Amino acid sequence: MPGGVRIGVTGADGLLGRALRRRGASGWTRAELDVTDPRAAERALARSRPDAVIFCAALTDVDACARDPRARAVNVEAPAWFAARVPTWLVSTNYVFDGPGPHAPDAGPAPINAYGRQKAEAEDRVRAAGGHVLRTGWLFGPGGRGFASTLFDRLRAGPVQALRDWPVQPTWADDVAEALLTLPEGTTHAIGAEEADWATVAAAACALLGLPPERVQPVEALGWGDRPEDARLAPATLPGWSERLPLLLKAR
Ligand SMILES: NC(=O)c1ccc[n+]([C@@H]2O[C@H](COP(=O)([O-])OP(=O)(O)OC[C@H]3O[C@@H](n4cnc5c(N)ncnc54)[C@H](OP(=O)(O)O)[C@@H]3O)[C@@H](O)[C@H]2O)c1
Repeated sequence: MPGGVRIGVTGADGLLGRALRRRGASGWTRAELDVTDPRAAERALARSRPDAVIFCAALTDVDACARDPRARAVNVEAPAWFAARVPTWLVSTNYVFDGPGPHAPDAGPAPINAYGRQKAEAEDRVRAAGGHVLRTGWLFGPGGRGFASTLFDRLRAGPVQALRDWPVQPTWADDVAEALLTLPEGTTHAIGAEEADWATVAAAACALLGLPPERVQPVEALGWGDRPEDARLAPATLPGWSERLPLLLKAR
């Protein structure tokens, strides 16, 4: 973390928020600060006086973003509110893109679902207010809710369906936290350097657990909501998933 800089993290109880706090950033959990409540946000900023805010609060469930009327308030209005008042780093997503990738930081967003559209709008609003945007994707780590984060538990419990032929760059949340704490200016990408598909990642997790490979059932579709055809980001400079997956096993 740049010396003496006071960093405040919103959504501090989430996967990335916890990784940032483990590295010394302070922050507000959802219970401490609902980012959609401007009066509470004003009080929080007045009390903590952060030099920079890393905005991790989000509603990330792709389907819920389309249904839940509160999604825009969290994903768009709240980061814009913060960026207008304090130097803000918005954590954004590779889901602002569709295909073909890998997508460079200056590529034009083309979101295909409500989550991606909300994040793309938030990026514009934050940049217009002088803030910064760091995009990442496919995060995993202890306590995470995504495919890779929950893989070991699900494989232990029984067969796991895993998407094949969809390119992913699973990224260790702690590596993204490190990148964020350098407070990179402008629009940047922080993504793991190793590509695979989920069936390959699940097979590697299965092998680490010593379980039979049949536990993994490669499928063409997982019945998720709309997802981009190719959301890979470039440059991919963070450590690859196969190096980090054993850390997740150790952490559980
Ligand atoms: N996870 C990924 O694969 C991924 C990929 C690309 C980008 N990102 C971005 O990275 C950032 C952090 O994501 P994450 O993986 O850490 O997600 P996460 O674990 O779901 O964390 C998000 C946090 O925001 C909180 N939150 C939701 N609504 C809030 C509100 N109104 N006020 C305050 N806090 C609120 C959530 O609380 P509850 O748990 O109580 O809802 C949760 O603790 C997000 O901006 C996300 O868009 C994540």
